[in-house]
Amino acid sequence: MIRIDSVTKRYPDGTVAVDRLSLEIPDRSITVLVGPSGCGKTTTLRMINRMVEPTEGTILLDGEDVQHRPVTTLRRSMGYVIQNAGLFQHRTIADNIATVPRMLGWGKQRARERAAELMERVGLDASLAGRYPYQLSGGQQQRVGVARALAADPPVLLMDEPFSAVDPVVRKGLQDELLRLQDELGKTIVFVTHDIDEAIKLGTMVAVLREGGRLAQYAPPAALLSNPADAFVEDFLGADRGIRRLSFFASDALELTTDAVVPADAPAERLAATEAPYLLVTDTEGRPLGWRERGSDDDRLLSYGRPFRPGTDSLRAALDCAVLSPTGWAVAVDADGKVTGVVSQQTIGEAIRAAHTQAEADPDAARGEDEKVAG
Ligand SMILES: Nc1ncnc2c1ncn2[C@@H]1O[C@H](COP(=O)(O)OP(=O)(O)OP(=O)(O)O)[C@@H](O)[C@H]1O
Ligand SMILES: [Mg+2]
Repeated sequence: MIRIDSVTKRYPDGTVAVDRLSLEIPDRSITVLVGPSGCGKTTTLRMINRMVEPTEGTILLDGEDVQHRPVTTLRRSMGYVIQNAGLFQHRTIADNIATVPRMLGWGKQRARERAAELMERVGLDASLAGRYPYQLSGGQQQRVGVARALAADPPVLLMDEPFSAVDPVVRKGLQDELLRLQDELGKTIVFVTHDIDEAIKLGTMVAVLREGGRLAQYAPPAALLSNPADAFVEDFLGADRGIRRLSFFASDALELTTDAVVPADAPAERLAATEAPYLLVTDTEGRPLGWRERGSDDDRLLSYGRPFRPGTDSLRAALDCAVLSPTGWAVAVDADGKVTGVVSQQTIGEAIRAAHTQAEADPDAARGEDEKVAG
């Protein structure tokens, strides 16, 4: 575990970049430092690997003061990724990734194999190995940056705004990739961003810093959204807090009904037998085609919007489906896209209230990576 204990950094010109900061950074999870520009995020990150020395306070790594560790050993145990990847422009992608292993004295062949393995891990095609950084897109370069930081398999990964220079679509891909990678590797990651949505998506714990390098709140993302410590945090979290918090609630408990789901070739009696105002028509495979108003002889179907997958998607995704649906009903599908049932906005509303009540009774239930669901 990394423990930041009442750390202050005052630069020689008197600027207090970090002010009596204390944080316990849990092992094998992603801890995000977030806050406005100049609030001391980079300074904090750099004090962990001693690129910056604290003025006061201590940083402990597995109980030992980092000051007592030789800088080189310390840095080898911590991969470092920065914005724009910071690659060596005159070295190929494979050589960039193999930098640290080569420094550690690995043979050429072994280092090359490691680079190839990591390229695959981070989703880079093997054909890119011989290229130079300028021949890669921004997103690809960031992946190389991550691969390079992982090359010597350090237990700790320090990431300073690694995805902030790429467009939103690429950024989302990189975030998903990082979460997937983290599931496999279980590193202790300290991730800096000024983007609160990125913090909420990636963090198991999120530290919100304010100007002057002071800690405003340190909490799991769901707790941040439900209970911001003060007006600064609330303002920083921005609008739609309630809706965004629904991302942390699972949709698998939603009660689905199949009464209103009918195949396109269903006999007329089947249609007449249901009470529902709208019928969801499916194809012969059970995939949704659209909604038909009961009793209407109009052949055109209303769009079924965007279906959700119970268990995989969150209550937020389910609600979004219902809100987008012209009938107010959300369509649930399985992994093959076949309809498993439909659910009304009202039922989703009841599930949301139940989830809130449960979260209040048991705050730990809405906490941590395990509970985080997609959407
Ligand atoms: N070497 C330095 N000498 C003097 N002041 C510095 C130095 N490095 C950073 N600072 C100041 O310390 C404060 C914190 O800087 P830091 O880079 O840690 O912020 P940050 O949160 O990473 O900001 P950003 O989001 O813009 O990257 C800022 O006021 C900055 O100007
Ligand atoms: Mg910074």
